[in-house]
Order: sequence, then structure tokens, then C-alpha cells
Amino acid sequence: MHPRGVVGVRGTRLILAHVSRKKMRLLLFLVICQCAINSVKTHNPNVILLMADDLGIGDLGCYGNRTLRTSNIDRLAEEGVTLTQHIAASPLCTPSRAAFLTGRYPIRSGMAAFSRVGVFLFSASSGGLPSEEVTFSKLLKQRGYATALIGKWHLGMNCESSNDFCHHPLSHGFDYFYGLTVTNFRDCKPGQGSVFLKGVQKSLVIPIQITGITLVSLAIVQYIGLLKVPFQALGYCLLIAAISLAVLIFFFYHFRHLNCFLMRDHQIIQQPLSYENLTQRLTKEAMQFIRRNTDTPFLLFLSYLHVHTALYASKNFRGKSKHGLYGDAVEEMDWSVGQVLDVLEKYNLSDKTLVYFTSDQGAHVEEISSSGEVHGGYNGIYKGGKSMNWEGGIRVPGLLRWPGVIQAGAYIDEPTSNMDIFPTIVKLAEAQLPSDRIIDGHDLMPLLQGKVTRSKHEFLFHYCNAYLNAVRWHPGNSESVWKVIFFTPNFSPEDSNGCYDSHVCFCHGGFITQHDPPLLFDLSRDPEEKVPLTPETESRFYEILRVIHLAVDNHTRSLHPVPDQLSWDNLLWKPWLQVCCSSLFQSCYCDYDSEGRPLEVRSG
Ligand SMILES: *[C@@H]1O[C@H](CO)[C@@H](O)[C@H](O)[C@H]1NC(C)=O
Ligand SMILES: *[C@@H]1O[C@H](CO)[C@@H](O)[C@H](O)[C@H]1NC(C)=O
Ligand SMILES: *[C@@H]1O[C@H](CO)[C@@H](O)[C@H](O)[C@H]1NC(C)=O
Ligand SMILES: *[C@@H]1O[C@H](CO)[C@@H](O)[C@H](O)[C@H]1NC(C)=O
Repeated sequence: MHPRGVVGVRGTRLILAHVSRKKMRLLLFLVICQCAINSVKTHNPNVILLMADDLGIGDLGCYGNRTLRTSNIDRLAEEGVTLTQHIAASPLCTPSRAAFLTGRYPIRSGMAAFSRVGVFLFSASSGGLPSEEVTFSKLLKQRGYATALIGKWHLGMNCESSNDFCHHPLSHGFDYFYGLTVTNFRDCKPGQGSVFLKGVQKSLVIPIQITGITLVSLAIVQYIGLLKVPFQALGYCLLIAAISLAVLIFFFYHFRHLNCFLMRDHQIIQQPLSYENLTQRLTKEAMQFIRRNTDTPFLLFLSYLHVHTALYASKNFRGKSKHGLYGDAVEEMDWSVGQVLDVLEKYNLSDKTLVYFTSDQGAHVEEISSSGEVHGGYNGIYKGGKSMNWEGGIRVPGLLRWPGVIQAGAYIDEPTSNMDIFPTIVKLAEAQLPSDRIIDGHDLMPLLQGKVTRSKHEFLFHYCNAYLNAVRWHPGNSESVWKVIFFTPNFSPEDSNGCYDSHVCFCHGGFITQHDPPLLFDLSRDPEEKVPLTPETESRFYEILRVIHLAVDNHTRSLHPVPDQLSWDNLLWKPWLQVCCSSLFQSCYCDYDSEGRPLEVRSG
């Protein structure tokens, strides 16, 4: 390890200021011991990928939080590498996860939206991760790994019928799935409010009124004989309009039953989803999967529902943290990480297992409950949060542990990406990287083992949905990390039309401000993105912009047109794709135990 690593970026120093000198000496000691034990087998390790949802980098003890108790996650930092400039490929769930699984910018797979909505909202949408995409799970499975996804997917389910499962985790290289195909929503938990019902109600009111007025006027016109519309045609029109409206209204009022369900493989096992002991259930599934595979290499992707809203925590954690229900949820997740690490220890698998912890994007800073409780996390010194390309939206925790193989207690300040996991684990599994497509991630092992000190990411492109929002440039010969921002979100509460009101930022119109010339920061000196540089304060201003424009041109040329998975057509709820574990008249209700028998079936 290079001692510079600990204090390199000013931001890092701020956020890590709590690491005491004593601890630091211990860390250095661990690192020195490190060199002696590099003879361990370094291929076909087990891989455990732990991903939180919307967790802020400032929520973890190992990144400087002093009040939330995250000792298990912190242990990963002590025994492994802490990435201080680990960048999510997108500040939103669906595109960030698509990039994570494929090692490619989401725009390459059509998983970046040109419209307003950048994520899937319904289980009965037809969009999703295309089957032509190669996920790390597919490649590891081909190499004989046992593979499981436990928790959130959010990358689609069906294409044309309610059981083709074209986008389902089992069609993307996972042998086993236990979890949610969409995501946790406020709407899934009674009493937690609604993310979009408000918006949907608002936007439905006008079509309902227009349809109603048109139908009534047509009926009147027909009745008084002003218009000779064939009676039958009018009847059909009326019928179709009425049915469509009824179906839509039915859907939105039964959102929880229709859209919030838990699956095991292809089967729905709980509809609607219950939050009771949910993290315990996910954790138990993860531990059982590890136990089943102590003798084969395995890939476990444990994708937590924490700490996306609706927030929840089981009895042992509720009311226990210093930060309300949000803090309880973080601490419950930390407990779960501890359980997973313990089971590795118990089966003597720790030294054979690469463990990674991250979050799909930064904390959702606009999450304030109707009662005013803060439901979003903390992004440390970084500006903004989820749905924005300020550092707070994309700079996420990145911890990697593999005792005896990668450095223990080291900090790496170089830019890394969540897309790097793909080539890293594919290589470790001795699988072939696909050669027919661009992979944007880079193998992390040389950095993690201290064999190189520079990241291969000279440029990183930061997208807001499908729109290029910012570019990061870490020139090979310098410590600078330039960030050029073409537009910024209007997210302060004073912008009445901005992101605050709509809950998330969108990438166009009144939600953003364009900048020409773009904003320029040097993150190595100004990680908080406080003071944009100008030609007066930075003599190389135009030269930097020129290099970045060339990189953008090259990057843009490397993109090929692909079907848009988040088009309106692919986002909309399609009744024929709706899955339901009982009859619709029983409101899609069921709750099965692990043997697959119904525990209770109730009607209505
Ligand atoms: C949740 O877990 C607690 C503690 O393990 C247990 O007492 C309770 O019965 C569980 N609830 C359900 C619905 O399983
Ligand atoms: C645990 O695994 C290591 C290799 O990872 C091996 O050297 C050691 O003997 C094992 N210990 C036990 C108790 O099985
Ligand atoms: C720790 O995290 C909580 C919850 O997000 C946050 O409110 C608090 O400010 C953080 N504390 C520190 C010292 O970073
Ligand atoms: C141009 O883009 C391709 C594809 O992303 C990349 O592999 C290559 O390194 C880039 N070249 C330059 C000079 O940036």
C-alpha cells in the first residue's frame, strides 16, 4: 500500500478523519503482514456481492459515520480494501444495476431512458435486461459456479406473455432466485404513502375528465339526433373507453396486491409482500445457499431492499438506532452482513471468498416522510444524491475483502466503477470475457493487490438516464480528477418546479439548468463541488474541455443503436403480463411456506 492512499484526496481525509492514529498503525501493520501470504489460491474463489439500495456513503462507520452502528460492514473495510472514489454507473436503480451485471454503460443495453421515468415501476412491463446481454452470472454459471440472486432485481420479468420470464433472473444466469422482481415501494407498505399514486392520480384526472365529457357530449348529440353515428359504433366506443378506464383504476387501487410480491424461482410465494421479518428471511436464504454450496464455487448476489423506502425494520432493530427508522434499517442490514460473514467463518470459507459491499447509488436526500421524518441517508461531504450526477448521487461505498489475497486495511482513492466487478470476477472464475462487445469496466485485482497504483479509468461518463450529464477525467500523469458537468439538477427546495416537488430529479426541462461553457471542478481539490473553476482560476480551462470533448466524441462513436427497454411502450403496465398467484377475484393473495404449501388463503 502507498501511504498516500490514506490521505490522498482531500475529501477522503475529511470523511476518514475519525480513523484514529492507533487504528491506522494497526492497519499499516496488517498490510505489511499481508506481503507474506500471497501464495493462496487466487482463482475460482466464491464471490459474495452485497448491494444496498440508496445507502449513502456517509452512513457507514468506515466512511466516517460516528452514530450509526455498522460494525460488520466496517469489518470488511478493516480486513479489505476501501475504495474512496467508487462510482456507480448511474444514480438510479435500474440502469445502475444493469451496468453492474453487464460491466457496460446502461445506454449500451438500452437500459437508459430517453423519457422521464428511468426505472421500471410495474412487474407487468415488457422492458428489461435483454437476453443478448452477457451477465457475470451467466459466465460464472458456465464455469460451474452455483449462482443465486437473493433480494431485489429491478431489471424486468416478462416480454410477451405472463410466463415467458425473458428478463427474469433465472434467464440471466442465476440458478436460484428469492426476492422481488421490481423494487421496494412506499406503495407496498400500508400507511407509508405512495411514490407515484399522487402523480398518477393527477395525470389520470385529465384523461378521465376528457373521456367522460366526450362520451357524455356524444351521447347527448346522438340522443337529440344531431349526428347520425351508427348506434353500435358508439356503443363499442363507450364500452372500450369504460373498460380501459375501469382496468386502469382497478390497477392503481390494487397496486400493492398486483405489484408487490415475493418470488422463489418462477413461483410467487407471497403476494402482497409482507415486511414482517423480511431481512431475516433474505438472510436465512443467503445462509442456506452458502451452506448448500460449501463444496462448490458459488456466486451469491445478496441485493438488499434496505434502505429504499418503504423503510422497515424487525422488532430487534426498531427504535434502536440514533437515526429513526432509516438508521434502524441500516443497522438491520449491517446485522445481516454479519450473519453472512459468520457463516463463511463457520464453514472455513472466508479465505476462499471475495466479498464486495456497495450501494446502487447515493442516498435519496429528498426522502422526507409525510410526518416530516427523514427517510433518506447521508452522503457525507458530497453534494446531491440519488438521481443526480453530483458526487452524492454516484460516489458509493466500495469495500472488497479477500483475506490473504487482497490488501487488508488499504484505501484506494483512484476512480473505480461498479462496472469493474464484471471483468474482475469473470477473470477470477477463469471465464472468457465476451469479445464481441465493449466492456467498460476494468479488472480491479491489480489495484486491490497493490500491483499497480493507477486506475485504468482515465475517463468515466456520467449519464442522467440516456443523456450525457458529466465526464470525469483522471489524466495519466497527474493527481487531478477533472469533472465537467453539462447540466445540473434544480434540486434545492427553493426551485418550486425542480426535483424536490417531484421526489426525484429528471433529466430535462425545468428540472435542470444547462451550462455553456460547462461547469468544471477538480475533485482532488474540491470534492464537494463547491466552486466551479473558470478560465481565470484555471489556466488550462479550455484545454481540459477540448480533451474531454474528444473523449466524448470517441465514446459516442462507440455506442450502437439498441431497442429502448425503457420506452413508454416498455414501461407501461400491460394487463396481459400481470401475474397473480390466486384468482384475480381473490385479489391475488397468497402466502406459502418453504415447502410450497399455502399457509393461509383468504378471499377478498
Ligand atoms: C419474526 O421473528 C421473530 C423473532 O425471531 C418471531 O418471534 C416472530 O414470530 C417472527 N414473525 C413471523 C411472522 O414469522
Ligand atoms: C480452512 O481452510 C484453509 C484453506 O482455505 C485450510 O488451509 C485449513 O486447513 C482449513 N481449516 C479447517 C479447520 O478446515
Ligand atoms: C450518520 O448517518 C446519519 C443517517 O444518515 C446521518 O443523519 C448523520 O449525519 C451521520 N453522521 C455522521 C457523523 O456522519
Ligand atoms: C475510445 O472508446 C473506446 C470504447 O469505449 C475505448 O476502448 C478507447 O480506449 C477510447 N479511445 C480513446 C483514445 O479514448
